[in-house]
Amino acid sequence: MATEIKTIGVLTSGGDAPGMNAAIRAVVRTAIMRGYSVKGIRHGYNGLLTGDIIDMNLRSVSEIIHRGGTILYTARCLEFKTLEGQQRAAQACRDNGIDALVVIGGDGSLTGARIFAEEYPVTCIGLPGTIDNDLYGTDFTIGYDTALNTIVECVDKIRDTATSHDRIFFVEVMGRDAGFLAQNSAIASGAEAAIIPEDRTDADQLETFIGRGFRKTKNSSIVIVTESPGNKNGGAMHYADRVKREYPGYDVRVSILGHLQRGGAPSANDRILASRLGEAAIQALMEDQHNIMVGIHNNEIVYVPFDQAIKNDKPIDKNLIRVLNELSI
Ligand code: F6P
Repeated sequence: MATEIKTIGVLTSGGDAPGMNAAIRAVVRTAIMRGYSVKGIRHGYNGLLTGDIIDMNLRSVSEIIHRGGTILYTARCLEFKTLEGQQRAAQACRDNGIDALVVIGGDGSLTGARIFAEEYPVTCIGLPGTIDNDLYGTDFTIGYDTALNTIVECVDKIRDTATSHDRIFFVEVMGRDAGFLAQNSAIASGAEAAIIPEDRTDADQLETFIGRGFRKTKNSSIVIVTESPGNKNGGAMHYADRVKREYPGYDVRVSILGHLQRGGAPSANDRILASRLGEAAIQALMEDQHNIMVGIHNNEIVYVPFDQAIKNDKPIDKNLIRVLNELSI
């Protein structure tokens, strides 16, 4: 055990993701079994600023492995990004005897951890917790598999009504600037196309879909579209409007799946991933690792420096684009 660490704080931050509870459980139980004390910090980094910090024991994490959301609550904390916020957080760590933090969240949350760990003597270990799967250095993030399955279940239902009415549906899914959810849910649901940020321009992708003569052999179609939070391309509504304008004969509908994608019981894969990563976070602290994200690559645990995990764009496997194009004829 690294001698200077006695108490570990754990928090969830950013958008909740199914499997975060399983990760908390793994962190708490592994840490306690290996002799550390654990404190739960509630509402993300906000809890450090407001002192919303609770003692955790082996039983505090009973019966949560199957639950979506996060028992520690979560938030996107703007104040933590300021110098004053970070100073208050450091003081809270001193006041509560917290020597190390395990932060479960996406790139915004890990960016906060990286800056904090550089400035203050609190070791930070990150766990990738986001449905977007957009963290570099890990093949999967906690929550992605469950969200993917949720989307596929929804699209299966949309297909029933699309087929019955001979309609074209544009289904908008989450992912922020990453197309993993859209591309893989399109393959898994047998959709006719996906429009994702990593491929050519969205206009070109729409052209390809239209140019393939989607109405020659099929009466209904489903196109999965990555949301566009910055409104760069306008998302599913934009494409639907364009098709309606250019092909007035087509019956077009939009379905925006929204936050239901973040809810629900975690899949078995997410529970296993979260359990492995949570255990590995404590192992990393014992090995005196600093300021890294614990991820999974080729089914092996890997340590990814925060800088790499946050700053590098995670590429989408271009073979997935080919597979969808070939199979959606
Ligand atoms: O990062 C996870 C995510 O669900 C994104 O896919 C989405 O763009 C965003 O969070 C939504 O955030 P909020 O819940 O704050 O609206």
